[in-house]
Amino acid sequence: MIAPSILSADFASLGTEIDAVAGAGDGRADWVHVDVMDGHFVPNLTIGLPVVESLLKRTDLPLDCHLMIEDPDRWAPGYAEAGAHNVTVHVEAARDPVMIAKDIRAAGAKAGLSIKPNTPLEDHLDTLRHYDTLLVMSVEPGFGGQSFIPEVLDKVRTARRLVDTGHLTLVVEIDGGINTDTIEQAAEAGVDCFVAGSAVYGADDPARAVAALRERARAARTR
Ligand code: DX5
Ligand code: ZN
Repeated sequence: MIAPSILSADFASLGTEIDAVAGAGDGRADWVHVDVMDGHFVPNLTIGLPVVESLLKRTDLPLDCHLMIEDPDRWAPGYAEAGAHNVTVHVEAARDPVMIAKDIRAAGAKAGLSIKPNTPLEDHLDTLRHYDTLLVMSVEPGFGGQSFIPEVLDKVRTARRLVDTGHLTLVVEIDGGINTDTIEQAAEAGVDCFVAGSAVYGADDPARAVAALRERARAARTR
């Protein structure tokens, strides 16, 4: 799956920018990745629930909300209630990540857990049993356009193994620095869903960029 991140889109034209990856074929996004930042958990401020509610009315593509915020225990369920497909919180910010997952699921969304590049996966394996998505950050969260950190692929390989052996049921998602040069190594490591911001919305034709990423990932996965 390819999930274009609208962090790199034109914020004055978000509806049109999503339409650009909503056509038929390989250029169609599987999820639209929405980066919610609060200026506290990360040193950047983006959009929140009112914008997500407007986007939900505008598009039928599933919204993948990545909450880079403090106190996700309080705020995450609202995104699920609004109709987001997947709501991801950061384990570093969560007080009670198991309860958050239950609240998100009770409100009708998939629950995602994200881990920053320096956060070990091993400490959170029990928690992950309650989640539908693991979002492995391959840059420090906060900004688009940063360079991919290949060391995080060890966490992807571990998660892939646990999923393939039936110990966890998760979509393994990666976020940060994904482009046509880096997507193959991520696909080989076992990623299911690739977030791409600047590689999609920095391109002249976002749909073609989605199709190109998909083709590279497919080729790497079947190698
Ligand atoms: C970064 C965000 C990412 C960002 C990725 O904190 O979580 O989703 O949009 O941007 P690129 O693909 O440009 O690294
Ligand atoms: Zn993100």
